[in-house]
Amino acid sequence: MSEEEYTYVDFDTLERFMKDVMMGTGVPEEDAKVVADVLITSDKRGIDSHGVGRLMMYYARIKRGQQLSTTKITVIKDNPGTARWDAGNGMGHVVSKKAMQSAIDKAKKNGIGLVVVGNSNHFGIAGYYALMAADQGCIGICGTNARPSIAPTWSVEPMLGTNPLTIALPTDWKFHWCADHATSITQRGKIETYARIGKEAIPGWVIDENGNAATDAPVILKKMLEFKAALTPLGGIGEDLAGYKGYNYATFVEILSACLTESNYLQACLGIVNGEFVPYNLGHFFFAIDINSMIDLEKFKRITGDLLRQLANAKKAPGADHIYIAGEKEYLAYQERKNKGVPISKETQKQFLQMKQELGLDQYDFNFDVKVEKSATPGW
Ligand SMILES: NC(=O)c1ccc[n+]([C@@H]2O[C@H](COP(=O)([O-])OP(=O)(O)OC[C@H]3O[C@@H](n4cnc5c(N)ncnc54)[C@H](O)[C@@H]3O)[C@@H](O)[C@H]2O)c1
Repeated sequence: MSEEEYTYVDFDTLERFMKDVMMGTGVPEEDAKVVADVLITSDKRGIDSHGVGRLMMYYARIKRGQQLSTTKITVIKDNPGTARWDAGNGMGHVVSKKAMQSAIDKAKKNGIGLVVVGNSNHFGIAGYYALMAADQGCIGICGTNARPSIAPTWSVEPMLGTNPLTIALPTDWKFHWCADHATSITQRGKIETYARIGKEAIPGWVIDENGNAATDAPVILKKMLEFKAALTPLGGIGEDLAGYKGYNYATFVEILSACLTESNYLQACLGIVNGEFVPYNLGHFFFAIDINSMIDLEKFKRITGDLLRQLANAKKAPGADHIYIAGEKEYLAYQERKNKGVPISKETQKQFLQMKQELGLDQYDFNFDVKVEKSATPGW
């Protein structure tokens, strides 16, 4: 899609609109603010696969009763360093923000905290929660399971979620080091973005049921729901490039998310049974490690900062002009977008107008040059 087909909308307008849409579906105001904050943080960081483009997904799921707009949290177990919560099939973002804060509070008392959450839903970018810990002087580690997408090494069947294993920590750089990514080569959200903007998936991202590379993004999304296409784990197809390493990390995330919380796992996370939408019942985990419990925080930031500077200053590959560290691209995206706003694709524009109309949010005058049509991406 060419640049002209995007319309740029400023952060504040988007955040208010997302909050109002969530409130329109029954999400309480304080919770709607959290959902909007997680989504706009994704867009601010340049992660288009998990920001405003996902608003319609939550809207659709709440409307059809697959997940609840209110988030009633039950504490099932609470210990000094660990806890297990049930999210009551409510909003993943809301319970996750609270769970990470609880893990941080435990870490401040005990050095380390872990809170696991079950019976939950899609929580957006894992980085949001890991960064909360980094903001508070901790190392944050978190993850979630998700709809079946990744084929185990030597399989073509989607079994594991794209299962991000995300880590953030503070340094003396201008931004936190934040490695926030899936355990597949790519993730479903990026294929949804490619489907929205009419782009082909990269060969090697996806294998079809015959073991061939699939590239047609809308077809991939449809086939994945039928279990006829799967994402490849980090490392890729087969063993030559060690695809089993990504497969094992994805399995670890699935186990931590589901097995401590008695949540759904593997293909039970599809959200569809006999053609009917059912709750996803996902699990998440949130670790926080208080840095001050082991070393003075400022000293840690200097040492870490130096380590990262050495990496960034390593000899460059021919043709390469910059060595990035994790979190840097997101920091640069923010610098650009804070003035320019967030690019909204035609597909997302249509969804915005549909939600605006259905909820009577007439105060938003988006000026999009598109017609309203019901066009949810397959799988929503
Ligand atoms: N909720 C869910 O079910 C779910 C599932 C999967 C992914 N996600 C989210 O989707 C988002 C995108 O995931 P993704 O797998 O597409 O991420 P990605 O492949 O775009 O990788 C992004 C990460 O890699 C780092 N990075 C990029 N280029 C780099 C370089 N050259 N050197 C060093 N680091 C570099 C970035 O700073 C960032 O941390 C994440 O926020 C993730 O949490 C959510």
